[in-house]
Amino acid sequence: MGRTIIEDMIMVEVNRFMKTVQQDIENGVKEHNLIKIVNICVGSIINKMLFGYRFEGETEHEFYYLREILDNLQAHFANPLSFVMMLMENPSSVKNVPGFKQLYNGMLKDFQELKEFLDRQIAWHRKNFAVDGNPESATNFVQAFMMEMHRREQTGNVGDFTLDQLRNMCFDLWIAGQETTSSTTSFGILYLTTHPEAQKKLQDELDRLVGNERQVSLNDRPKLPFTNAVCNETQRLCNLIPQNLFHRTTKDVDINGYKIKKGTTIVPQISCVLYDDKVTPSNKNQTLEKENGFGVRPVLFKCCLERRIPVII
Ligand code: HEM
Repeated sequence: MGRTIIEDMIMVEVNRFMKTVQQDIENGVKEHNLIKIVNICVGSIINKMLFGYRFEGETEHEFYYLREILDNLQAHFANPLSFVMMLMENPSSVKNVPGFKQLYNGMLKDFQELKEFLDRQIAWHRKNFAVDGNPESATNFVQAFMMEMHRREQTGNVGDFTLDQLRNMCFDLWIAGQETTSSTTSFGILYLTTHPEAQKKLQDELDRLVGNERQVSLNDRPKLPFTNAVCNETQRLCNLIPQNLFHRTTKDVDINGYKIKKGTTIVPQISCVLYDDKVTPSNKNQTLEKENGFGVRPVLFKCCLERRIPVII
């Protein structure tokens, strides 16, 4: 699925966002729950990418059901005991220990419900779509995966293209893409409302360089330094994942004299870099605009996001 197709999916939701707010204003609504609108827009982009449909009209209730599971999961992960469980080789060994029991069972139930939703989606695609086409012609991730799986089955080399793998990938993309994007976007909106001068500068740049005859697009990106700077600064300040994912060293490493053996579990701390004044100096606004408008991006690249950057931009 190319960049333009995904960009189109995003723009559909941007339009929905603006239309919803506009309608609320016309209906005299005084307080707007923007986070709720951002959530369903982001959920729809990911669902459209994975399964080919948005949450709208009769499918909207599905989103609220899934959102509830996600909120429960988040609450579970916020529990410090979940961190202890993640460090264990076999977390199920504490499933009957008081304190862990409720957490373990709660997480299991949420994961199970989400997996059942994904299994239903995959089964529906298996029933309703031909799998013998060219993956390039697929309009969503599940279709493309199943076409490739079928092609490999014919050659006897299935590799990682199994239904289990498909379900797990959908699971990862659903979980990893939802809250991250919703919270960052909501944070960005809040940040801009508390910085009207930045908001004005941003609007001026868009008016001047894009105009109001058409919508802004990814192709405009290189010529919008302040807009890029705002996006990057939002990601930096938002510090969305202060407790990063676990990694394992693939060789012996020496960091400033600290020796870390190959095979050690490590948790790179992005926040140390994001909030380090040496890396992002306090006159950052000028720095951001000067550096081709990509400001803190080198910082994001240098820390543990490096290999994952394609999924977050
Ligand atoms: C503002 C939005 C996002 C932020 C801040 C963000 C941040 C992150 C971070 C910090 C990691 C861990 C990197 C590491 O282990 O070193 C990660 C991993 C990941 N992200 Fe995102 N992410 C965002 C959006 C998305 C989206 C939209 C998707 C997909 C639809 C996604 C999919 C993933 C996946 C699959 C991983 C795990 C990669 C792996 O370990 O193999 N993320 N993300």
